[in-house]
Amino acid sequence: MTTLLHLDSSARRRSVSRELGDAFAGAWREANPEGRYVHRDLAADPVPFIGEAWTELCDHVLAHEITEIARYKEAVRTPAQAEAWGIVEPLLDELVAADVVLIATPMYNFSVPASLKAWIDQVTFPRMSLAGRRFVIASARGGSYKPGAPREPYDHQERFLRDFIAGHFGVQDVAAVAAELVNSRLDPALERLRAVHEQSYADALRTARTLGGGY
Ligand SMILES: Cc1cc2nc3c(=O)[nH]c(=O)nc-3n(C[C@H](O)[C@H](O)[C@H](O)COP(=O)(O)O)c2cc1C
Repeated sequence: MTTLLHLDSSARRRSVSRELGDAFAGAWREANPEGRYVHRDLAADPVPFIGEAWTELCDHVLAHEITEIARYKEAVRTPAQAEAWGIVEPLLDELVAADVVLIATPMYNFSVPASLKAWIDQVTFPRMSLAGRRFVIASARGGSYKPGAPREPYDHQERFLRDFIAGHFGVQDVAAVAAELVNSRLDPALERLRAVHEQSYADALRTARTLGGGY
């Protein structure tokens, strides 16, 4: 049975990244009626930041060259580490069980929200491979970061996720949709770019639906 893990991370309920993620997930669920759909809202139900005991688990995995995810629990040696592992294990099980991981994310301060980064920190261990899975990034940003835009070099949201998914998880199959210039809905200084935003938003929604139906 194929499984989709859908992560949301916007602090807003009425959110463009949530709409894009929902468009992908809705089409995926129609195309995979027997599939398993798991939704985790990292903003509404945040995972804690990693603490010292988590770093001890990580150090043990590194020092003992443990690369199989199923063996990570061998690193648990103290009650504090058991508590830290109690947070990691269900998150990691959910991630490992997924065939497709959909990350819906706003851009916050050129990057991803702390809620999403906290999840990444919890589930990531040294030399961990998620090869064979597919990732989809559904993002929204207030400005424009597309190729050629003055702010292109400041995109540490989609680019960070792409680099991390490929560079650390070893996954090359990454698709991304982005709605740009969302701030033109609110910011009088960007009002002249409202039509460009509307086009970007419509294109991103359409692409998200098309992608979801094909996975
Ligand atoms: C805390 C915060 C920080 C933001 N930082 C940026 C930024 O650095 N660059 C940008 O283009 N937009 C920024 N924005 C605008 C959001 O990216 C934009 O509102 C986007 O639509 C948020 O996604 P959402 O609709 O899914 O919540 C920021 C918004 C918030 C609330």
